[in-house]
Amino acid sequence: MSIAGLVAPEFRSRPQSESSFARDLCEGLSAKPKRAPCKYFYDREGSELFTRITALPEYYPTRTELGLLTQHAGEIASLIGAHAAVIEFGAGSLEKATLLLGALKNIAAYVPVDISGDYLAAMARRLARLHAGLEVIPVVADFLEPLELPSLPRDARRVGFFPGSTIGNLGPSEALRFLRRSASMLKGGGLLLGVDLVKDPAVLHAAYNDALGVTEAFNKNLLARANRELDADFDPDAFAHSAFYNAPLKRIEMHLMSLKAQRARVAGRLFAFDEGETIHTENSYKYTVDGLHALAHRAGFGPVRTWCDPDRLFSLHWLAC
Ligand code: AVJ
Repeated sequence: MSIAGLVAPEFRSRPQSESSFARDLCEGLSAKPKRAPCKYFYDREGSELFTRITALPEYYPTRTELGLLTQHAGEIASLIGAHAAVIEFGAGSLEKATLLLGALKNIAAYVPVDISGDYLAAMARRLARLHAGLEVIPVVADFLEPLELPSLPRDARRVGFFPGSTIGNLGPSEALRFLRRSASMLKGGGLLLGVDLVKDPAVLHAAYNDALGVTEAFNKNLLARANRELDADFDPDAFAHSAFYNAPLKRIEMHLMSLKAQRARVAGRLFAFDEGETIHTENSYKYTVDGLHALAHRAGFGPVRTWCDPDRLFSLHWLAC
């Protein structure tokens, strides 16, 4: 295993800095309705809380997707073909990467792209132990921004890997833009995409309102993180977790609702909240298989194969470009 230029400076395009958190949060809290970008959920505490979410009985996406990857690994590997350079957008789960990499033949390189250099380095070290001989080329970047790839082994087929329905955090036009950019970057290869499906709203509601309150803690961690990093003075107990399915827009919305009229300071600025006013913290869009195929076509992909679990909770797509 070689880890080419761990956190290579030339790819350190847009590290997530405290100041971008301050700027983005203050901008969101100045808007009406108030909002906050969901990418700031994932500091150390938030990432741990998310890992706990993925193990909750109500949160079906992770285990269902892992099941699809396991069950169809052979077919996925033959569709992808040998000598692929796998580019993972948002290096999230070692378990998913390992499942895919273990199934592929003669893999040329694994290129995890993530905004957290520390997380990438830890992930690369752990992969080194699991896949001897694998060339890992970490790229520190926000994968939603235009991305410059490192030089990859010659005639390697470029294959994107975007699991976990992270694409659901993007609105329709952002998702189209992201997929268009991916299609041109991966030309001649394809994208393995995990997408959560439209389903019984009660099942969706439960997945974001778990009985143990882990999702609530995950949502409120945004306020706690601001307190830790931005000299903010939020009282997380003075906000309620609110998550619901917006059926017309096919998305789960998460909000933090102020339980009283109050003010909070963030990075030296003061923000006022009315009782019942919310901060919109996340969207998680759900797709139908047909809707996803239509989007993929518009972005320049050809949907070749889709795998779903028997309950049609989650989908995995091989999109060629
Ligand atoms: C990581 C964005 C796919 O939308 O289900 C889980 C994040 N938020 N519970 C999702 C999340 C609340 C998750 N994604």
